[in-house]
Amino acid sequence: MRALVLGGAGFIGLHLVERLSAEGCQVTVVDDFSRGSDDERVAALRARPGVDVVSADLTRPEAWARLQPDVDQVYLLAAVVGVRNVEADPSRVLRVNTLTVAHLVNWLRPGPKVFFSSTSEIYAGGVDAGVVPVPTPEDVPIMVADVASPRMSYAISKLAGEAMLLHHARATGVPVVIGRFHNVYGPRMGADHVVPEMALRAMEGENPFRVWGADQYRAFCYVDDAIEAVVRLMDAAVEGPEIVHIGNDREQTNIADLARLVLDVVGVSATLQPMPAPDRSVRRRCPDLGKLRRLTGFEPTVSLTEGVRRTVDWYRGWRQTIAMPGQPTAARDRTPV
Ligand SMILES: NC(=O)c1ccc[n+]([C@@H]2O[C@H](COP(=O)([O-])OP(=O)(O)OC[C@H]3O[C@@H](n4cnc5c(N)ncnc54)[C@H](O)[C@@H]3O)[C@@H](O)[C@H]2O)c1
Repeated sequence: MRALVLGGAGFIGLHLVERLSAEGCQVTVVDDFSRGSDDERVAALRARPGVDVVSADLTRPEAWARLQPDVDQVYLLAAVVGVRNVEADPSRVLRVNTLTVAHLVNWLRPGPKVFFSSTSEIYAGGVDAGVVPVPTPEDVPIMVADVASPRMSYAISKLAGEAMLLHHARATGVPVVIGRFHNVYGPRMGADHVVPEMALRAMEGENPFRVWGADQYRAFCYVDDAIEAVVRLMDAAVEGPEIVHIGNDREQTNIADLARLVLDVVGVSATLQPMPAPDRSVRRRCPDLGKLRRLTGFEPTVSLTEGVRRTVDWYRGWRQTIAMPGQPTAARDRTPV
């Protein structure tokens, strides 16, 4: 088995590459390291037989010209993500996230099965408008509340990617699975997402402990479970094109309770200080996993408490490596999730 993982040095990408490689797959990783860091985990990958790490910008045609098309699976995870990026440069989000898909579609030849990573943000407008149920299945209408809002650039870029790949798959017969990730978290995901962001502030002893959007509800999915779902979808006889929601529907939590859990796992106590919800952050999110279960038999296995424990453990070590003594961690993105 040969796989090409585009964006394979990022959070989900690296966990996926490690899993595929451990199962004996030959993997080519492509990343421009704009977000995924070239750290010791990537160095360990480079040292593994059967893993090739290529540094390239997938918005550039010459990057694609270098890639061998004779692979069995292609995973497109490369994207500009994160609220900080989206708010700072929505034009870059749209350009990078759509160009990478356009190049993929141009480059593809019949043969490999394709996985495209999309997002629950795509249907968030419909949840806010009250026309989309939660837990949310795949076949709900997509609404863009305000095309000019920087926050919408990410959802719009992924919507364009979904449409490009769906129509390409129908026209050519290339098997395509579009996985919409729902709040995946875990080690090595940077410092901007809600779980590590809270964990780092808790370790710094913040009190009162600020909680943005305390009454918002989410269903968090530990990264190992998300990877299990992706691998099952790609191994199953799912030819597609299929859109499939990926996440954990077993435990919904509000953000205040998540903060209490993080404080507890870190081992500190603090008074919660509710803060406004981030602009255009959806009030409630939980995937309907009926289709994923039907196609693959997948069940989430890592509880929120266990996942937060594993994540906090990893960030303790990470903080010791990168933290500068005495320098507080900024409340980074106001953690919209
Ligand atoms: N983490 C989540 O909960 C979540 C939720 C919904 C969707 N997703 C999607 O899953 C995918 C992976 O997300 P992640 O959380 O691992 O993000 P990430 O930022 O850690 O990974 C994305 C990777 O793409 C790389 N990249 C960006 N632009 C590139 C370019 N032009 N050329 C080559 N590489 C480039 C980055 O360096 C990074 O390593 C993304 O497509 C994201 O939109 C993630």
